[in-house]
Amino acid sequence: MIHKEDIDKIFEAARVEDVVADYVTLKKRGVNLIGRCPFHDEKTPSFYVSPAKGIYKCFGCGKGGNAVNFVMEKEQMTYPEALRTLAKKYNIEIVEEEQTPEQIQSNNDRESLFVVSAFAQKNFTENLYSTDEGKSIGLGYFKERGFREDIIQKFQLGYSINNRTAFTDAALANGYKFEYLVKAGLTIEYKNEQEAIQDETETVKAEHKFLDRFWGRVMFPVHNVSGRVIAFGGRTLRTDKKTAKYINSPETEIYHKSDVLYGIFHAKADIIRQDNCLLVEGYTDVISMHQAGIENVVASSGTSLTAGQIKLIRRYSNNITILYDGDSAGIKASFRGIDLILEEGMNVKVLLFPDNEDPDSYSKRVTSDELKAFIKDNSKDFISFKTNLLMGDVKNDPIKKAQLIKEIVESIALIPEAIYRSVYIKECSRIMDVEETVLLSELNKIRSKKFNDKRNHAQSPEQLSSENTSVDEVRIVEKKEHGIADSEHQERDIIRLLINYGSKIVQVDSEDADEDGKLIPIDISVAELIIHELQHDNIILENVLYHNVFNEFVQQIENNSVPDFNYFTNHENVEICSLTVDLISSPYTLSDWEKHSIFITKEEDIIKQSMNNAVYALKSRRLEMMIGDIQKQLKENPTEEEMMTLMQTQFQLLQAKKEFNKLLGRIIVK
Ligand code: CTP
Ligand code: MN
Repeated sequence: MIHKEDIDKIFEAARVEDVVADYVTLKKRGVNLIGRCPFHDEKTPSFYVSPAKGIYKCFGCGKGGNAVNFVMEKEQMTYPEALRTLAKKYNIEIVEEEQTPEQIQSNNDRESLFVVSAFAQKNFTENLYSTDEGKSIGLGYFKERGFREDIIQKFQLGYSINNRTAFTDAALANGYKFEYLVKAGLTIEYKNEQEAIQDETETVKAEHKFLDRFWGRVMFPVHNVSGRVIAFGGRTLRTDKKTAKYINSPETEIYHKSDVLYGIFHAKADIIRQDNCLLVEGYTDVISMHQAGIENVVASSGTSLTAGQIKLIRRYSNNITILYDGDSAGIKASFRGIDLILEEGMNVKVLLFPDNEDPDSYSKRVTSDELKAFIKDNSKDFISFKTNLLMGDVKNDPIKKAQLIKEIVESIALIPEAIYRSVYIKECSRIMDVEETVLLSELNKIRSKKFNDKRNHAQSPEQLSSENTSVDEVRIVEKKEHGIADSEHQERDIIRLLINYGSKIVQVDSEDADEDGKLIPIDISVAELIIHELQHDNIILENVLYHNVFNEFVQQIENNSVPDFNYFTNHENVEICSLTVDLISSPYTLSDWEKHSIFITKEEDIIKQSMNNAVYALKSRRLEMMIGDIQKQLKENPTEEEMMTLMQTQFQLLQAKKEFNKLLGRIIVK
C-alpha cells in the first residue's frame, strides 16, 4: 500500500516527457514532442507527448495515458509497481505498510529457492561446456538437432551428469542448504536408504538418503517473466520407450505450473510488439522458432492451457494464435481449452501445420521469411476454423448439423462482449448456411442458462456483478442472492462507451425533415447521443463513481467540448483515473477489430449498435428493478387501495419492459 500523499508527489515529479524520454527519442514539434511509438513498429512517428497535458498518445496504435500509465505499459507493471519505479527515479521516499515477520520469512524462503535454481542452471550449463560427458553427449545432442550456439546460450540449456547424486553433491559442496535443494525440487529426499535404493533400477551408494531428480538428461531451464530460473525440464537421450521423455520439476513455492508458460521471458517484448502470442506445444518448438527469428512464442509444455496461463498472455496481448502439428490428433480435444481463452475475452486464431510437421521440424525446413509468411497467411480465426472443420463431419446429416450448431454457439456464448458475439453469429450463419435468428435464439438460451447457473453458484454479489452480462440477450434475473438487483453492469457499460468512444462522431437522423419529407442526417458525438437518451428518461446513474464521470461529460459538453479518455486518465480523482485505465484497457476495443479486420463491418455501425444495446439494457434493467420493488411492496400487506395502484403500475411497467425486450431483440438481429 502506497500512501495517497506519496502518489501525489510521484505524479507531480514524474513529467511525462521526461519519463518517456528514457525509452523514446523525442523531437520538438510546436508545443508537443513527437517520436516513434515504443508500443508498435513504425517508421514514421505517430507517437506524441504533450507536456502541457501531461499525456502521451499514439495515433498509430491508439495507446495513451499519463506518466504512470506509460511505465505500466512499457514495463508491464501493475499500478503500484510503476509508482515505486518512478519514486525511485525521482528520489521520492515512499511509506509502505510494514511486512509481518511471517511475510519476511516467506520472502526469504522464496529467495533461497531462486538462488539454488540459479546455481543449478549454472551447474548444468557448465557441464555442457567443461565436462567430457557434457560436451560429447549433451552438446553433441543439441548440435545434432541443429541448435545454434547463441540459441543454446540464450535459453541457458544444459546437461545433468549421468550419476545419481552428482548435482546434489556439487550443490552441497558449494554451501547450498539441503533443505532448499529439496524444496526447489532438484533433490529428492528419502526417509531411509532402503527406500532410495528400492525406488531406483541402479544401485546407489547406501549412505545417501537423497537422489538427484535430474541425471543424464539435457536440461531446459524454465524462466519466470522476469527471467529468473524457477524450474527445469530434463529430456532423456535414450530412445527406449520405458524412460519418460521428459522429467519436470514438481510444484514448488516458486513454480506453479499452471501459471507458467515456457519461453514467456524471452517472448514478452515481441508479443507486445506483434500484439500477438504464438502458442506451441513444447520446449523444442519454442527454441526452434526463436532460431528462425520468430520470438513471440511460448509453450504450454504438453498440457492443455490453464486460466492462469491465459491471464499471463493477456498481460501482453489480447491475441493468441495456436499452432497445431499437422498430424495433431488432439485438435478437437483441444477445443475445450480454447473455449477458456474465448471466455477470457481474447481473440483466438489457429494455424495448422502441414502433415507430419510441427513448428520445430517445419522451421528447420524452410527459410525464416517463408516461415513468417506461412504463419501470416494461414492463421484462421478460431470460430470459423472450428465451424469449417466440424462442418466437414456433418455433410448432409441434419441431426449432426443441429448438434454442431449448438456446439459452435456454445463457444460464441462464452465471448464476454456482445458486439463480438453478434459479429461471430453473422459469420457462422454464413458458413453454416443457417438463419442468423436461429443462431441468436440458441445463443440467448445458452446465455440465460449460463447466467442462471452462475447466479445459483455465485459466492457473493460481487462475483455475480463481475460477469459481463450487461448488454443484450440475457433476460436478466430480478433478484440477486442478497437483496434487490442493481444496474451496476449496465451503468458500467454506458461509462465504458462514453470514455472509449464518447468523442467519436456518428451520423443519425434528426427530427427535421427536408422538402421531400426525408429526415435530415446530422453529425453528433456518441457522448451527446448517450446523454440525450438517458436524460430523456430521467435516468440517473446510481454508482457514485459512474455518476461523477457522466456529469463531467455533461458539463464539458455544455462548454462545447467532448472529453476523451486522456482527460480521464489524468483526472485528479484517482478512482476515476483507474476506472478509466480499466475501461480503456478492457480486452476489446473497436479499433482492434478494425486492425485485424476479419469482418467487414463499419466501425460506426458497431459503435451505434453497441450504444443502442447499452442504453436499452440499462433502461430495461431499471424497469426490472422497479417491478421488483413493486413486488416487494405487494408482499408487505398493502391496503386494498394501495394494492390496486401497485398492480396497475406493475402492469404498465411490464408492458414497457416487453417493448424494450423487443427493441433489444431487434437490434441484435439487425
Ligand atoms: N512433455 C512432458 N513430458 C513428457 C512428454 C512431453 O512434460 N513425457 C512436455 C514437454 O514440455 C515437451 C512437450 O510436452 O516439450 C511436447 O512434447 P513432445 O512434442 O513430445 O516433445 P518435444 O519437446 O517436441 O521434444 P522432441 O522435439 O525432442 O520430440
Ligand atoms: Mn514436439
